[in-house]
Amino acid sequence: MAELLSGLTRTKMCGEFTSSDIGKTVTVMGFTAKYRNLGMILFVDLRDRTGIVQLSFSKEKQPEVFEKSTLIRNEYVLAAKGIVAPRGEKNINSNLKTGSIEILVVDLRIISEAQTPPFNICDDVKASELLRLKYRYLDLRRQSLQKNFIVRDQIIKAANDYLHKMGFLFLETPFLGKSTPEGARDYLVPSRLYTGKFYALPQSPQLYKQLFMIAGFDKYYQIVKCFRDEDLRANRQPEFTQIDVEMSFVDDISEVMNIAEGLISNIFRDTLSIKLPKHFRRIKYAEAMERFGSDKPDTRFSLELKDITQIVKNCGFSIFSEAAKTGSVRGINIEGRASMTRKEIDSFSDIAKDFGIKALTYIAIKEEGITSPISKFFDESSLKKITDAFNAKTGDIILIAAGKTQSVFDALGSVRLSIGKKYDLIDKSIYDILWVTHFPLFEYDEAEKRLYAKHHPFTSPLNEDLKYMEKKPLKVRAKAYDLVINGEEAGGGSIRIHSKEIQETMFKSLGFSESDIRERFGFFVDAFQYGVPPHGGFAFGLDRLVMLITGSDNIKDVVAFPKTQNALCLMTEAPSSIEEEQLRELSLKIQSIDPTLNLLS
Ligand code: AMO
Repeated sequence: MAELLSGLTRTKMCGEFTSSDIGKTVTVMGFTAKYRNLGMILFVDLRDRTGIVQLSFSKEKQPEVFEKSTLIRNEYVLAAKGIVAPRGEKNINSNLKTGSIEILVVDLRIISEAQTPPFNICDDVKASELLRLKYRYLDLRRQSLQKNFIVRDQIIKAANDYLHKMGFLFLETPFLGKSTPEGARDYLVPSRLYTGKFYALPQSPQLYKQLFMIAGFDKYYQIVKCFRDEDLRANRQPEFTQIDVEMSFVDDISEVMNIAEGLISNIFRDTLSIKLPKHFRRIKYAEAMERFGSDKPDTRFSLELKDITQIVKNCGFSIFSEAAKTGSVRGINIEGRASMTRKEIDSFSDIAKDFGIKALTYIAIKEEGITSPISKFFDESSLKKITDAFNAKTGDIILIAAGKTQSVFDALGSVRLSIGKKYDLIDKSIYDILWVTHFPLFEYDEAEKRLYAKHHPFTSPLNEDLKYMEKKPLKVRAKAYDLVINGEEAGGGSIRIHSKEIQETMFKSLGFSESDIRERFGFFVDAFQYGVPPHGGFAFGLDRLVMLITGSDNIKDVVAFPKTQNALCLMTEAPSSIEEEQLRELSLKIQSIDPTLNLLS
């Protein structure tokens, strides 16, 4: 390799040449994106992560170099020395930064040959995602993907710069640890030395960062991998990265939110040159649910939910009157869509079904009058009350859901988003950034008939709600906050409990016995006996921030070596079987293998 490059030192990267370089002798290195042999002249588009520069080989002027250049094929790795020259008027490519120049090559080195790649490496790639994931290192050569990783690096730099400036210390935490309480399933690592025992990979560094506060580090941050074995979606990976922050001597949410706002503003300034307001809008959880049916509302479009329970409770339609007793009846008004087909309505109804709503019903206000499967339950004045509640006019259609209030919110929240996307109601030109605050501290699991912590069990209740902790826990709100960008949860955090008594009440409400507490969090509870500064923090999903800033709709586009929806790495074929010997060393035995799950074959 050294010999191949001897005497050549790269002048600069391919994408950096401009007309100011004309006349200079330069050396470039990169991959062959494209080549064209025109007989007397051969052109190569040489690519590196900064862009493309055109090499030109002349049969007339440099016959030997030209001869060598005819061996070049796509993806060959080349080094070339030559003179920068202006392109002829006709050949100027205004789509390329380097489009007004070319390099007339006098010395060519073919550093590495390449097989024909399994797909064409270009931005409008046609190959399937599966094939591209198998050859991820080739897919990553595409400029549109490389751009995402350049932005990812800028975000990391902006975060490091800001947090250091604000006095935060980058501290690392272990990957081999004990299960953390973020609520997903753990990835486990068997211990060889302690047969039958397992380490858990961290779902987040939550406990460690709080221990850093107890250890007196005061302000901690880390850009760190987290591992969660949960159902994957377009915005989730089993291993993902958090910008994780914790700070001491804070007990008001605003003090922590100010740091999070500064961090996001720095990132937006340094990557997009966008100046965000000093403080972001805040909306309380209860209001977000009432208006948008979501705790991560996309407020780039209105289409707000309205509660019509009181208007319809005695209408005689049993589904409504039942819901009025145990839940609620709510709807959304879609302007100008009264002519929506039955099929379209059914497709929205199907979304609602996923959330436990039997069906959506509708009231369409057409020129010829109202069309609705439930119109027989209403006289004209009640119908008017309903349409007035939605400010609906001729041409509009109201979709209505009835049932348990949480299901109604979830169903309509999801239908709302789907309508926003389908009818192009979302203003994509803006970044819609807002805080959701005043989350409930607990949520109730119907199936298990028990309370769970909505964030995690160390989240502090609001001072004014402490009085409900024992008798009405579902009324207690938390000192917790999520940052929502364009309807995505970009991050969240809370002020933590730092009083032993409140922590004990919290554990009691969650139904943990003394022995559960010792077993799961003994070390943590012990630490709270040795002096604890009030503290709080947050974590942003780095991958989600990169998605939002690059406009990607799939997290795989911003993670270098991502897993598929089925948690497979198609390139390395992980997870994979291990040797008998390895199993023996770990004292593990595979009981059975489900042959239908062999997704790699
Ligand atoms: P939380 O669980 O809300 O909080 O996670 C913080 C942020 O991490 C991102 N995120 C994910 N990104 C990609 N794939 C996933 N599977 C995934 N899961 C979460 C989201 C989310 O907002 N310890 C607390 C933070 C704290 O209280 O300080 C925590 O982990 O963007």
